[in-house]
Order: sequence, then structure tokens, then C-alpha cells
Amino acid sequence: MITVPVSLGDRSYDVLVGRGARHRLLEVLPVGVARAAIVTQEGIGVGVDAGHDQRTFHMGSGETAKDLETVQDLCRQFSRWGLTRGDVVVAVGGGVVTDTAGFAAAVYHRGVRWIAVPTTLLGQVDAAIGGKTGVNLPEGKNLVGAFWQPSAVLCDTEVLETLPPREYRSGLGEVAKYHFLDEGEALVDMALDEKVAKCVAIKAAYVGADEREAVGGPGAGRRSRALLNYGHTLGHALETAGHYDLRHGEAVAIGLVFAAVLAARLGRIEGARVEEHRRVVAGYDLPTNLPPGADAAQLIDVMGRDKKAVAGMTFILDGPCGVEQVADVAVADVEAALKEISA
Ligand code: GLY
Repeated sequence: MITVPVSLGDRSYDVLVGRGARHRLLEVLPVGVARAAIVTQEGIGVGVDAGHDQRTFHMGSGETAKDLETVQDLCRQFSRWGLTRGDVVVAVGGGVVTDTAGFAAAVYHRGVRWIAVPTTLLGQVDAAIGGKTGVNLPEGKNLVGAFWQPSAVLCDTEVLETLPPREYRSGLGEVAKYHFLDEGEALVDMALDEKVAKCVAIKAAYVGADEREAVGGPGAGRRSRALLNYGHTLGHALETAGHYDLRHGEAVAIGLVFAAVLAARLGRIEGARVEEHRRVVAGYDLPTNLPPGADAAQLIDVMGRDKKAVAGMTFILDGPCGVEQVADVAVADVEAALKEISA
């Protein structure tokens, strides 16, 4: 078992990575807990034993279940069961479950402790790490939320063995991102447990330096949490457009190649580095080009409205000093980069 610390002063916690990590729940349970509310979905099929009085609460599946109504349902059920401020919520599932149950924990009794047991690769290397919790509104994704750090995260790599291949590959989109944020080639050859732990450690370093994404903006330090969104500006636009059949990690993969092509157009990186982006993304069996018939004008419109845009069109781009935020990128360069990655 590999232990990766997330260092946040009195909100510090450990992420346990390895086969069977879910069976370590009793060890990481906060002191004083009498009851554990397990939040999961039908079909996840990953059992946990808190060794205390525990009850399982099922929420719906898909992004549409990640809403305030589900949070209200969960909190009402917690209340009827008698969950107190001294108890714990345990979220067992993918990003939809950990985001929603983590947010329910953040607001129930003005905050109860929670533990994440992410059951997807995407959840283990990204969504469940770092305390971003929240739900969607009809007006947009993740518009209501809170920074609420878990007491522990259990990344059980055994449960990844039964993931549908496409779901697993989607997680590799985030792994490809970490390649360019920090680790480079070494990450490619690591065994699964080491790979997940290394991704968690890279993310933990960013979260530890900038927990609330307060250091954002062009010229911000090398550890601005906003940089974890490398590849996500186009990735989010492809997801927001809604009519492309893409998983999150697939959209991020295309976004990474786009960001490299754009960075090269702006003279920030050489062609060889662009090829490295294509090779790494393709090596994880992920797409490197836009889907056929992609609407560049719509994608540019959505990217212009991206919540991370702070001045003109802002992107997270590779460069001589590594990945950083770059503002005031000309629309003509964005158009040309999109054309270059058109299928
Ligand atoms: N997924 C980006 C972050 O946690 O900041």
C-alpha cells in the first residue's frame, strides 16, 4: 500500500493507494465516529465495512443526479437516521458520487467529516483528491460547491479491474495531463499502483500550494491549482457543446493536443514537444484530433465564456518555463490550432 500525504495544515490527510485499500476504512475513520453514512449508486457494487453502525444511501446515476435535489434527499435521509455532527459520510463511487456526497457532507450540520472511496481511475487520480465538492445547476456544471477536504481517500486499484475499458481509458486522459505537468516519461512505464500514487502526489503538491485556487491568473506561480486544468479549456468546451460522444478524459486528451499545437503557434514550444503530446495521448489509446464535423466557431464561443478566462481568451499552455496561464490569445491563432487538429 502506498500512502500519499496531502499537506494542508490541520486539514491534512492521507491518500492510500493499492489493491484492497477499501478494506482500510476502519483505520482511517476519524476519532469519535458512531455512525457511517455510505453514499453510493446502484450498480457500483463496491462494499465497505466501517466497523461501526453503518447504513447505505443510494443516489441516482449520471450528471443529472449531481444536483441540489440529491443533496437535499441525502441530508434528509441522514437526519431521519440520526447522523450527527460527530459522524462520517463515506462516498463510494465515481466523481458524481464523491462530488455530491462530499458536498452533502460539507453542508449537513454545517459540515461533517467524510471519506472518499473513488471507484474509477478518473476519481482516483483527480476528482476525489483535493476537496473540491459540488453539484450542477441547470445553468451550468459545478456552479454550487465548497472546498471541503476529506479525512482520508482510499484509492483501491483492485476495483479498477472491472471498469468498462472506455471508462478506464477516460481516466488515462487525466494521467496524460500529469505527464506534462510534472513527471514526464517516467509516468508512462510505471505499474498501475505507482502510476496512480504519482498522479495523486502531483495533484497533492498543487492542492497543498493553492488549496482554493486563489493563486490563479497569468504570471501566477508554478503551483497555481488552476494549472490542473491543463487541456481542460477545449475539453470542457467539447463537453459543454453536448453533441460529441466524448467521455471527460477523451475530451481532455484532445484538449492537451490542442493546447500543444496552440503553444507551438505562439512560439512557446517546438514541434518535437507537440509530437510528444500526440505520442503520449495516442499511447493511452485516446483521441488526438477533433471529432469529425466539429463546429470550431461554437467551440471558440464556449471557450470564450469559460469561467477560467480572466482576460481575453485565456489558455493554460506549455512553454519554456513549463505549463502556465497565458492571456490575450488571438482568436485567429485559436482557429488555426483547431483547424490543425481537425480530423
Ligand atoms: N480538477 C481540478 C482541481 O481539482 O483543481
